[in-house]
Amino acid sequence: MLRKQFPLRDGLVYLNAANVCPASLPVLDRHQHFLRDFEADPSFQNRAKFGPLRERVRVRAAQFFGVTADEIAFTRNTSEATNTIVHGLNLKAGDEVMLIEDNHPSNLDSWKNQAKRLGFSLNILPMTQLIDSAEQLAAKVEAGFTPKTKVVSLTHVTSSTGVLYPVAEICRRAREKGIWCHVDGAQSGGMLPVDLRRIGCDSYATSSHKWLMGPLEAGVLYVASYRQKEVWPSIVSVGYSEDGKGGARFLEAYGQRDDARLVALDATFEFLTMIGMASVEARIRQLTTHLMNELAKNPKVQLRTNRKEELYCGVVKADLPSVADLRAFDAKLYSDHGMAFSVTPSGPIRGIRISPHVYNSIEQMNAVAEAFRKA
Ligand SMILES: Cc1ncc(COP(=O)(O)O)c(C=O)c1O
Repeated sequence: MLRKQFPLRDGLVYLNAANVCPASLPVLDRHQHFLRDFEADPSFQNRAKFGPLRERVRVRAAQFFGVTADEIAFTRNTSEATNTIVHGLNLKAGDEVMLIEDNHPSNLDSWKNQAKRLGFSLNILPMTQLIDSAEQLAAKVEAGFTPKTKVVSLTHVTSSTGVLYPVAEICRRAREKGIWCHVDGAQSGGMLPVDLRRIGCDSYATSSHKWLMGPLEAGVLYVASYRQKEVWPSIVSVGYSEDGKGGARFLEAYGQRDDARLVALDATFEFLTMIGMASVEARIRQLTTHLMNELAKNPKVQLRTNRKEELYCGVVKADLPSVADLRAFDAKLYSDHGMAFSVTPSGPIRGIRISPHVYNSIEQMNAVAEAFRKA
């Protein structure tokens, strides 16, 4: 029943949620309805409705992430949201920012670029997928804090190998030292229940078109109310106000945007709330655990994802060292079996990345394991 809520074509075994998810039909319908409405009458009079609708979405997004509407800004995606923080903080020579090597480029190269410009330094923790426990991981990050550290910018679940970071514990330790904690939630919003107050980060970024299964090119940036004064907006246009009364809205004065898409975000949160995020996480865990157990029986497979339950959730990376051309193998799985993954053809984390969501089945996990057996 759930799978029928998605426009996925018959025969497709879509396993690339970590990259982009299909929007559900209720989301698509809502977007199309409001887009048509907009185009049928772009007058100020007709568009006046979008102001209150946008605020309704903000309230729903805030409820979904356990914060207040004044702490939510809408962006195009995680990259834009994280860069708003990277470019917005007043860092200077003598300050240090701590990063993780397997952060996405939007949370790694963006900091490198800004460090060059402003003269602050970076402390980059090497890849961490082979760690023994969440506690060890938290301790490793904390060990990198120095008196100069002003920011730690983490990834909640990495896209390279699917490490689930103990972000609440790391934020707790960062907070004690007054360090700003930014969490890249591109791979956690919509995959796990995310309660930002419990996590205790200062800012969080996510994309609607990934695990949230919402419209393309919409994102959410959370900035804790007590930290908002420390962020400079990257873009200032109509609607910008520096009086502080609009909460995080001052970070989204981007000029004209697709309002219909934001309204579709409302349907996105409604849809996930209806299923319940605890059920979504449980299902994703069931699928990925089953898949890893099956793949682990295959001596040709090298799992790149940490199998300790507290250290993974929805992203599985598996290599087949005996397959020389992994890209060709990936292409064949798509053409012969309709299986769509992401592939890293070389390097230390070479492998096929498999990221299932609620529209996938155990049968599909078995089919993937079987295809790997025949490799
Ligand atoms: C961990 C992580 N952060 C950020 C991004 C960037 O997301 P977007 O392209 O939606 O900005 C991705 C995309 O794959 C990601 O995996």
